[in-house]
Amino acid sequence: MPVESPHPVPGANGLFALDPNVAHLNHGSYGAVPLPVQRVQARLRAEQEQDPDGFFADLPDRIAQARARIATALGGRPDRLALLTNVTEGIAVALGSIPLAEGDEILVTDHGYGVVNQAAERRAVECGARVRTVRLSLHTPDLDAVREQVLAAVGERTKVAILDLVTSPTAREIADERLLADLTERGVTTVVDAAHAPGMLPVDLGQAAGGADFWVGNLHKWAFAPRAGAVLAVRGAWRSRVRPLTLSWEHDRGFPARVEWRGTADYTPWLAAPAGFSLLEQLGTERIRDHNATLAAYGQQELVERTGLRALPAMPGLAMRAVRLPPGVAESEHAAKALMVQVRRKLNTRIAVRPWAGGGALRISAQIYNRAEEYQKLAAGLGELLMR
Ligand SMILES: Cc1ncc(COP(=O)(O)O)c(C=O)c1O
Repeated sequence: MPVESPHPVPGANGLFALDPNVAHLNHGSYGAVPLPVQRVQARLRAEQEQDPDGFFADLPDRIAQARARIATALGGRPDRLALLTNVTEGIAVALGSIPLAEGDEILVTDHGYGVVNQAAERRAVECGARVRTVRLSLHTPDLDAVREQVLAAVGERTKVAILDLVTSPTAREIADERLLADLTERGVTTVVDAAHAPGMLPVDLGQAAGGADFWVGNLHKWAFAPRAGAVLAVRGAWRSRVRPLTLSWEHDRGFPARVEWRGTADYTPWLAAPAGFSLLEQLGTERIRDHNATLAAYGQQELVERTGLRALPAMPGLAMRAVRLPPGVAESEHAAKALMVQVRRKLNTRIAVRPWAGGGALRISAQIYNRAEEYQKLAAGLGELLMR
């Protein structure tokens, strides 16, 4: 059944400072901070400059309050999650906290975020461990098949698995609860890269960090928070073993303060993050999710129909979709970047392109500031660009 473009969300117009001459179809990379949230952060910064000593004296309490609000929005408990700058940092904290010995294995997939997989490599080299990369078919939509492939790669020395909740290049789900439970049963420590989850998907961190040992999600992508903010939820006994990246004055305190504090820094993104969740709720979290998922599906349909490109498997409820580029296009990092630049310069459109052997993956996002026409224009223009 053809997908109809959704009705615009009332009140969404004018909420963002985005350049109206550009089609911003890449919310999934850096997010976009709504104006009311920008104003909250600007007030916090002004307050900080009026009395830096007073501001920093009150900061631990204010961070705890912000964390409590964020925890409520994510169904978790504030003593079980820490605020961080971003997922890159959260993965580094997780990897640095899990003991690894020579010969141990870290499992990742080829859909994993580039620098996350590189962080696994670096950690492995430091410990004499190895990284095993599970190669998942680009076109298999079936979560059961993905689960089987990941489990089949688990060996005696597999100590850690780093899996995406929603993958970046291909916009698909991997780390479902069943897979995490199966890995836990096999004694594998699970780290979930949930960069896209807060705000985009219903999240229930509940008792067990979303079913993982370490679960890290960005607030600045889909939760309307200022850059940069993220949440690291940690299961049970791991909390007392978390090793912060920075030794700070809070190192004697328990989780989460010792992980959160990194000396003098700008903590206003965390303090303003609750305003992002409040705005989401005010606009209607469910309504935004439906709008974005439908618009992303519409955009993918436009790309497929107008260019003949193949849709990559779609996951219901996601505000991102991807299509496969033809062989020879965007197969290297350099070529993928060049295509993004061309699309930006010639079509005034922002998208994400990731290299893949046999033809790269082009990802579109949808957010309440996007319109059906933007995807139509991309599809028409991309068809022409690819024919050249
Ligand atoms: C799946 C995934 N993991 C990790 C990241 C890294 O996020 P950050 O740069 O905020 O650390 C991204 C960013 O796009 C991502 O999509």
